[in-house]
Amino acid sequence: MTIVDDARALAGELLGVDSERLRHTAGVAGRAAELVDTVPADDRELLIAGAWLHDIGYAPALRATGFHPLDGADELRRRHWAERLCGLVAHHSGAAFVAEARGLADELGRYHDERSALSDALTYADQTVGPDGVRMRFEDRVADMLRRHGPDSPNASVHVRRGPYLAAVVARVEERLRSAS
Ligand SMILES: [Fe+2]
Repeated sequence: MTIVDDARALAGELLGVDSERLRHTAGVAGRAAELVDTVPADDRELLIAGAWLHDIGYAPALRATGFHPLDGADELRRRHWAERLCGLVAHHSGAAFVAEARGLADELGRYHDERSALSDALTYADQTVGPDGVRMRFEDRVADMLRRHGPDSPNASVHVRRGPYLAAVVARVEERLRSAS
């Protein structure tokens, strides 16, 4: 069993094999597989494993703070997964911006935000796959996210700062894809 097999199995176990969340997760893993040339060779398995694990914090059984990047990372740490994976999950898709609005910045800060080609690739994959696993343009994905969370949500309140952060990630990954091809 590789770390990717273990990650896929854990996601299925926690999210439920028939769930919309697992379809999204599988879509993100598939997208991530197309981005392996944008990360160092040693990080490729971590990228795919992180994609499988990034949303496990949505599993009802793991709900503690109610903030899925943190609940997911806490579970991975409890299970002694690699610390880099815990950090990737904790900080995927600009989670730190939302954590601040939710009063969870200190708790999220227990995890390292590596801000690397690897973390960029995970965020890019997540931001270009919709809730049901279908590919979306980044701009449509962001608009859909804001619609689902609503105008009074923490996501909406931090979007003025998180949006440009995500757009910069997308630009960096697309540039790496161009230079890799
Ligand atoms: Fe996601």
